[in-house]
Amino acid sequence: MAILPIITVPDKRLRKISEPVSQVTDELRQLAEDMLDTMYDAPGVGLAAIQVGHPVRLLVIDAANKEDMPPNPMVIFNPEIIAASEETNFYEEGCLSVPEYFADVERPLTCTVRYLSKDNEQKELECTDFLATVIQHEMDHLEGKMFIDYLSKLKRDRVVKKLTKQAREKATAS
Ligand code: NI
Repeated sequence: MAILPIITVPDKRLRKISEPVSQVTDELRQLAEDMLDTMYDAPGVGLAAIQVGHPVRLLVIDAANKEDMPPNPMVIFNPEIIAASEETNFYEEGCLSVPEYFADVERPLTCTVRYLSKDNEQKELECTDFLATVIQHEMDHLEGKMFIDYLSKLKRDRVVKKLTKQAREKATAS
């Protein structure tokens, strides 16, 4: 078990576009395991590899967020949205790279995602409601995009400024 450090705003690596995986290797499977440990420890419901500093198209998700639901860890490489509903909904989103900040984001209510499994199999996943929100949020990270990008410039500038100040204070203190 390994808990990896999660990078936060304003770290520029979060704006990088992640590279597709040509084949899932043991090394990448280990990274996925470590990312799951890191996500559960945080705790969070999703994590993209770039959030732990690896610019590869890999996500881990567990959208079984209710206490009475059994854990459902998912490891997803090279995800692609092949269909999305016109109907949208709002969820209050947060992000492990944007600590202690939450805001409503509007996204398609359902989507179908094609991806490569950790056993190198092409699979498709139907996502609705919370899972659809989580997977779309995590997929944005692969494009260097974050949920705060959906907010007004005023709101976004405010949270980036606050986190930049915190990062500076932390650097000075240590
Ligand atoms: Ni995020």
